[in-house]
Amino acid sequence: MRPRRFLPCGPLRGRIRVPGDKSISHRSIMLGALAVGETTITGLLEGEDVLSTAAAMRAMGAQVERLGQGNWRVDGVGVGALLQPQAALDMGNSGTSTRLLMGLVASHPITACFIGDASLSRRPMGRVIDPLSQMGASFTASPGGRLPLMLQGAQPAVPIEYRLPVASAQVKSAVLLAGLNTPGITTVIEPVPTRDHSERMLRGFGAELTVEELGGERIIRVVGEAELRPQTIEVPGDPSSAAFFIVAALVVPGSELTIENVGLNPTRAGLVEVLRQMGGDITLLNPREVGGEPVADLLVRHSALQGIAVDPALAPSMIDEFPALFVAAAMAHGTTVTSGLDELRVKESDRLAVMAAALTSVGARVTEQEDGLTIEGTGGEPLSGGANAPVATHLDHRIAMSMAVAGLASKAGVEVDDTRPIATSFPQFEALLEGLCT
Ligand code: S3P
Repeated sequence: MRPRRFLPCGPLRGRIRVPGDKSISHRSIMLGALAVGETTITGLLEGEDVLSTAAAMRAMGAQVERLGQGNWRVDGVGVGALLQPQAALDMGNSGTSTRLLMGLVASHPITACFIGDASLSRRPMGRVIDPLSQMGASFTASPGGRLPLMLQGAQPAVPIEYRLPVASAQVKSAVLLAGLNTPGITTVIEPVPTRDHSERMLRGFGAELTVEELGGERIIRVVGEAELRPQTIEVPGDPSSAAFFIVAALVVPGSELTIENVGLNPTRAGLVEVLRQMGGDITLLNPREVGGEPVADLLVRHSALQGIAVDPALAPSMIDEFPALFVAAAMAHGTTVTSGLDELRVKESDRLAVMAAALTSVGARVTEQEDGLTIEGTGGEPLSGGANAPVATHLDHRIAMSMAVAGLASKAGVEVDDTRPIATSFPQFEALLEGLCT
């Protein structure tokens, strides 16, 4: 454990740049490993989760090489040519690595054992086991459909049409990736849109993929036995990492912070929309495209936030940002009500229970419901923070970073029990914060 107290901080001013998008970084390495030839990537997030993906793709035959900071080269083996790994694939803390790679392995003649840390080993894998079993893969999972699990890929796999029972980009992506090496057309029906990086990037790599909107649903079809062409990829900044600094600048008085290069794909941009509805002063500067994704620099100024009822339809487009939003809500004027957030209970931790406990322990007024939190804000006053027991982060990077932000806007600071998980997604987080809080 590496505990740390995050102390109150003066105004956040200046410019920062957040690291590369985690979802896009994972997919860059995976798709690069499936293309024949050399893919080059700049701006890759070098967090532990992405390094788990890189190690797994190496174990299955791809050459994945770091050339410099964020600058990587992947020499792929081609769809259908992944090799049998010689040891268990250690996924660390990363649900995205696990579920997407299960999809890849499911349609290759490979047997792989997936293992992970205590947090990942508690998370449900049944949601990918179900469709991948329908495609012909076989699984021996730990009780409750969890890691460690053994997966035997099908050769050939059979194409399916699968309607997503949960709004999950990981499940969607697992099925589409399995479909790449499956004869025929694999179809995923998405009743609620989720992040669409897999679709955009598969197309970019030359897969035949179509998306049809029908009766409010998205029907995604991928033609199997695909041949992927290597690409040059520039990874945009991660809006989920920017979220902590957006909220910090909104709640720390006097702040005026520019966050450069933030990805604003509409399937990811829900937090900015909700914070603006709450009165957050966020200006988009220099809107442009990076790597086929909309990007802008965000100018964020301290604001008097107003509590709102957050539209549950926005949840998938900000699913990883709720811990940060809860911190903003805790210092708003009035009450913020969130609902439709059952998925937060199966993230790196149960983010509803863990954030309710964490915020309550630093003086916020929070009520936990089955599918959301209701938070009565302080009306712009700092949270008390205090000398209570350290906040329990449960191996969850986003809890640690959110509560660090709560500490900046508290009277007495907030101690988190373990900052190590921050390195899974945002290794520079503490250094960036130190640079701003001088
Ligand atoms: C991700 C999808 C989301 C998100 C995760 C990254 C992805 O998970 O929480 O951090 O890259 O596809 P779910 O698919 O479980 O919602």
